[in-house]
Amino acid sequence: MDLLNLEPAWPVTQGREDDLYFYLEAIEEYLPDNRVRVTGHGEMIMLGSYSYLGLNGHPAINAAAMQAVQRFGTGTHGVRMLAGTLSIHKELEAKIAEFKGTEDAATFSSGYFANVSTIAALVGRHDTVICDKLDHASLIDGCRLSGAKLVRFAHNDMADLERCLKHPAFTGKKLVIVDGVYSMDGDIVNLPEVSRLCREYGATLMVDEAHSLGMLGETGHGVEEHFGLPADTVDVKMGTLSKAIPSVGGYIAGSHELADFLRHEARGFVYSAALPPASAAAAIAAFDIIENEPERVQRLHDNTEYFADGLREAGFSFLESPTSVFPIMCWDDWAAWKFARNCQRKGVYVQAIPHPIVPKGLARLRAAVNATHTRQDLDFCLSVLQEAAEEVGGILGEDRSLDTPEMARHASRSVMSEGPVSGV
Ligand SMILES: Cc1ncc(COP(=O)(O)O)c(C=O)c1O
Repeated sequence: MDLLNLEPAWPVTQGREDDLYFYLEAIEEYLPDNRVRVTGHGEMIMLGSYSYLGLNGHPAINAAAMQAVQRFGTGTHGVRMLAGTLSIHKELEAKIAEFKGTEDAATFSSGYFANVSTIAALVGRHDTVICDKLDHASLIDGCRLSGAKLVRFAHNDMADLERCLKHPAFTGKKLVIVDGVYSMDGDIVNLPEVSRLCREYGATLMVDEAHSLGMLGETGHGVEEHFGLPADTVDVKMGTLSKAIPSVGGYIAGSHELADFLRHEARGFVYSAALPPASAAAAIAAFDIIENEPERVQRLHDNTEYFADGLREAGFSFLESPTSVFPIMCWDDWAAWKFARNCQRKGVYVQAIPHPIVPKGLARLRAAVNATHTRQDLDFCLSVLQEAAEEVGGILGEDRSLDTPEMARHASRSVMSEGPVSGV
């Protein structure tokens, strides 16, 4: 084992020695009202979960999962192609297609798998994938596995995207991949312009809706609804069942031809076990609840606005995120670790996001509000954030994202184009 370097890129040892390390702590119970009990730390209010609509533990979803266990047991004992396809898999795929306004959908055992195996199935070494610089790691891993040329344009910078689409060196099929909502910065893709450019230059468009499903649009249908664009704006619609939907799994929604192709060619579909029955049933029930309780989405939007106002008033920089993902900027890694630990000690569950998850100099806390936080909860969290920041000193205040050339190059603003074509 000594021959392998087993030291993570994160400063884990020092974090543990300084009692700043809070990752992988076990939640032993979900309590009502967004509270969790964490082993060794007691009760905390959750401000770091992806459960944007607060659906985890919803009685109808729990009941659907339990009924599926009664009917099918706990496993599928097979890949979908062989013995693993259940009627609820087909029901779930039809539900996703209906929700996203497509002909069909294929499900995978995780969102990560959906991305990696779809991209690897759609493009190969003679093709080009053009990704936003802040695209999720699973998208980048899929591009690498595909062997296609990987080009990364400056974040949400449409001029840079167009330069990439026009560039004579980027040949073969062109696949443009963006996130609906960027998972660490919380901003929204410029979908009208991305889709216009894709049509103009004959590129296929894939959008990862891990964080926009259930969050964007008046009724939570996602990024097309947010912009009032037709359902066929996006060719390859990816999403997860692990965030607003309280389950696990990933999907690709699109044409029949696309879904059928993936069911036979995407290695993560063909060679990996089918979704467990309880997970599929929970996801179906959750889509129904989003359709039937649109007030949840409205509450999420109201809470987002309220929390953003509170952060702004307190002087925090959160990159003016317009969604319920709030990057509370600390800039320095250790400041973020200390700030997060102070919050945790005061009963707020929120995590630090240091390098290497984000570029050096852009460390932050990643807070997320949900539809079921009360105003009292949010006020409490805001006051804890302020106290915790004051104890660390120097976090509140001006935007430092352009302080150094490295930070500027990677910072989450569209002004950082690296010249004609970035990140080739
Ligand atoms: C943007 C994005 N895409 C894909 C994934 C992977 O999804 P899953 O966790 O369901 O595997 C994530 C997970 O955090 C994500 O944030």
